[in-house]
Amino acid sequence: MRRYLVAGNWKLNLGPAAGANLAAALQARLAGRALKGDVLVCPPYVTIPAVAAFAQGAPLLVGAQDCSDQDQGAYTGQVSAAMLKEAGCTHVIVAHSERRQYQRETDALFVAKIDRVHAAGLTAIFCYGELLAERRAGRAEDVVEAQLRGVLPRLAHADRGNLVLAYEPVWAIGTGETATPEIAQQMHRTSRAIVADLLGAETARQLRILYGGSCKAANAAELFALPDVDGGLIGGASLKVDDFAGIIDAAERVK
Ligand code: PGA
Repeated sequence: MRRYLVAGNWKLNLGPAAGANLAAALQARLAGRALKGDVLVCPPYVTIPAVAAFAQGAPLLVGAQDCSDQDQGAYTGQVSAAMLKEAGCTHVIVAHSERRQYQRETDALFVAKIDRVHAAGLTAIFCYGELLAERRAGRAEDVVEAQLRGVLPRLAHADRGNLVLAYEPVWAIGTGETATPEIAQQMHRTSRAIVADLLGAETARQLRILYGGSCKAANAAELFALPDVDGGLIGGASLKVDDFAGIIDAAERVK
């Protein structure tokens, strides 16, 4: 019922030349295949145009890792959602844990950014997830609930077509440690119940919830086979064509 989404978050890796190489290799792997789901890569801003040349609609899409909460004006260093759309993007990641941590971004800013993403006609991928200390203290579900309640009800234009969630336990990001299938399914099921409460049962049923955190070809199939996991947000393993293609193949097998 829900198409899977396998999304690569390149983070601060791959300039225009290297990004174009990876996009071309991916496109060659995917060309002519009728995939059951969607494949997205999110390069650094300056790499987006080079990647967009290879990612024009299915099967490969291009997105951004962040955007401004403003449309235009005197905001040095910022890039608007409308500009990203013009550059070929279909999706924008918002609220990644690295931005929560290093840029100290807050719920109010996430709401403003997602509203700009939606106003530009793009899909937002909203990231959330607990820290290791919060999980150890038995507070993982409370933290996730607060993160979802702090943003979703305040969005002006959210619907099941323009929003994707990405549950990313912070202790699993870039650590090589992956959530067990039990933890992933429990957190995704809890997330979907919270979405049902906030945005309605039908939206919750159709909304895609991705798993992120050391997802790789070797563990993707068991994660994607879980009933409430609709794909993945992939960091490290999205930077090499064999690794990323292996994750897409896993989704094709189990979804
Ligand atoms: P990782 O990153 O796959 O390298 O753990 C995931 C993410 O931060 O989106």
